[in-house]
Amino acid sequence: MTDTKKYILAIESSCDDTSAAVLCHTNVLSNVVATQEIHKQYGGVVPELASRAHQQNIVPVVHQALAKANIDKKELSAIAFTRGPGLMGSLLVGTSFAKSLALGLDIPLIEVNHMEAHILAHFIDDEERTKPTFPFLAMTISGGHTQIVKVTDHFTMEVLGETLDDAVGEAFDKSAKLMGLPYPGGPLVDKYAKLGNPNAFDFPKPKVDGLNFSFSGLKTSILYFLQRETQKNPKFVEENINDICASVQHTILDILMEKLQMAVDQTGITQVAIGGGVAANSGIRAKLKEAEETLGWKTYIPKFEYCTDNAAMIGIVGYLKFEKGKFTEQSVAAKARYAIGS
Ligand code: KG4
Ligand code: ZN
Repeated sequence: MTDTKKYILAIESSCDDTSAAVLCHTNVLSNVVATQEIHKQYGGVVPELASRAHQQNIVPVVHQALAKANIDKKELSAIAFTRGPGLMGSLLVGTSFAKSLALGLDIPLIEVNHMEAHILAHFIDDEERTKPTFPFLAMTISGGHTQIVKVTDHFTMEVLGETLDDAVGEAFDKSAKLMGLPYPGGPLVDKYAKLGNPNAFDFPKPKVDGLNFSFSGLKTSILYFLQRETQKNPKFVEENINDICASVQHTILDILMEKLQMAVDQTGITQVAIGGGVAANSGIRAKLKEAEETLGWKTYIPKFEYCTDNAAMIGIVGYLKFEKGKFTEQSVAAKARYAIGS
């Protein structure tokens, strides 16, 4: 009897994580992520180093994903890959690898938009979590992105708002850096914030029209605030780290929640799904839970491994596109700027 199951190999290499996953329909059989540690010493992602590390990682990561899934490459039905958006040098590695493998195996190639994948990660089968129903609002918050998207169906999405400068994860990381914390500082800000007073210090919130965001002004105001206070007391940061982190986090979360509330008011949609690395933040999780209780929203957060950059989310889009016969030509090129729905 022939196996009619479909197996998708997915490849993600848009930023600083090299990842490969194997999915059988909507089930994840493996999801291997090689996080590039080299960037830590530079306090942020260095594009040229990221591209080189992807070249070193891609073959072993794909091998590992196939081995963990116990699937031979001859059993694969299609190869899905991140076409963009992301760092060009990084995207090129995954794109070229996926194209050659699909050509060699003579199976379909499927391009995936990384931002759509963050959203469709909610449709990965996961016994512990329910999936959103259409339409819903998706807020993707990470070190590279901050977007609110209206999702009408798997392939109909509209960006309602996005950041005009820094991403929210960058706001966390850059604030942390100003306090002398190592990269990425987001998780540490979250940790110290739990012990501090969120109203200890006041930081101004940006005035941005509509559903767009801006975080660069916050970073500047934190810089001036810390310079002022450390002039008076050189140990200011050390002595007040919990309160500073709690106040910074409180300001960032207020900005996010205000825009989400606006999006809910504008669209009348009360199903809210979040994704991206910042979705790990304990404060945003608490705020969404509170909104369920006080505002009647229904909120969704995927498993953490499907929030941060990973190939399983590329694989779920790959499977959904496979079902619809949405395949990609071998002439496809990576696309650093690649808007949702384009
Ligand atoms: O999705 P991700 O792994 O990579 C991309 O940027 O695409 O997100 C990483 C970002 C970093 O900025 C990191 O500081 C932030 O997510 N992050 C957090 C937390 N965990 C990760 N920010 C705030 N609180 C957290 N608990
Ligand atoms: Zn991402």
